[in-house]
Amino acid sequence: MFVLAHLSDLHFASPPRLSNLAGKRGLGFINWQRKRKFIHRPDVLDAITHDVKAQAPDHIAVTGDLVNLSLRAEYALAQRWLQALGDPKKVTVIPGNHDAYVRSAERLPAAFWADYMRGDDGLEGFPFIRRRGNIALIALSTGVPTGPFMATGRLGEKQLASFAAALEQTRGNFRTVLIHHPPESPPRRFLRRLTDAPGFRGVLAEKGAELVLHGHDHRRLVSWLQGPDGKKIAAIGVPSASARVRHGAEDPAGYHLFHIDRAGEAWRCEMIARERSVDGTIREFGRQTIS
Ligand SMILES: [Fe+2]
Repeated sequence: MFVLAHLSDLHFASPPRLSNLAGKRGLGFINWQRKRKFIHRPDVLDAITHDVKAQAPDHIAVTGDLVNLSLRAEYALAQRWLQALGDPKKVTVIPGNHDAYVRSAERLPAAFWADYMRGDDGLEGFPFIRRRGNIALIALSTGVPTGPFMATGRLGEKQLASFAAALEQTRGNFRTVLIHHPPESPPRRFLRRLTDAPGFRGVLAEKGAELVLHGHDHRRLVSWLQGPDGKKIAAIGVPSASARVRHGAEDPAGYHLFHIDRAGEAWRCEMIARERSVDGTIREFGRQTIS
């Protein structure tokens, strides 16, 4: 049995310099000072990290928004956290919209986290593929700089075409797709959606996948996407790993474990959700059979 842990949306923050606060970062900083800094707490992330490590998963996927305003100091904090979390061979990272918050930061995720964002072929760029036993992780990037008040993501034509090829190439494995933005968003999340989500779902409907893991919404979400031949593909969103409390529709901190096993011709996959309770302890929240 292979155990895959999934966590997301850490939002490491560091005090910005005044000169960093022009444009979108300034608005983001106001939001952080007024609201977000009371939600995303380092001690909460520490407790979650400790619990993940105690479960000794075979691999850990981190699906974006490791940082908050794309400041160099934030990437360095996240890099230190990754180094303590595990060997780059056992930890896979993809960026989210906060990791490419402004155009000047576009290359910073690769500058700090490249070892965690590289395929088995050693190359950088998205998508990349990592095979661990009969599990194939297919890592996508939707992190693109956007205007103020927007948190959209985009894959682009080129990445979508390579994604289709990657799914083909890894057929027969338990294909696990890592993407920051959810593959479907309700109308109220229009300014936070994946703009080419129909294209993404179209590739899945044609090529199939065994599991899709995402973050971004900071809540536990299980949805079923159309696969080929009438099959359904589970797309699972995870809460933020650093959220101290429930906040509107957002869940308190948690993460997921996937127990993946071959069962004859089919796959067996069980999801175990773990969550931080009000007393600060991390406990099992529930289990669900995915396949
Ligand atoms: Fe996000």
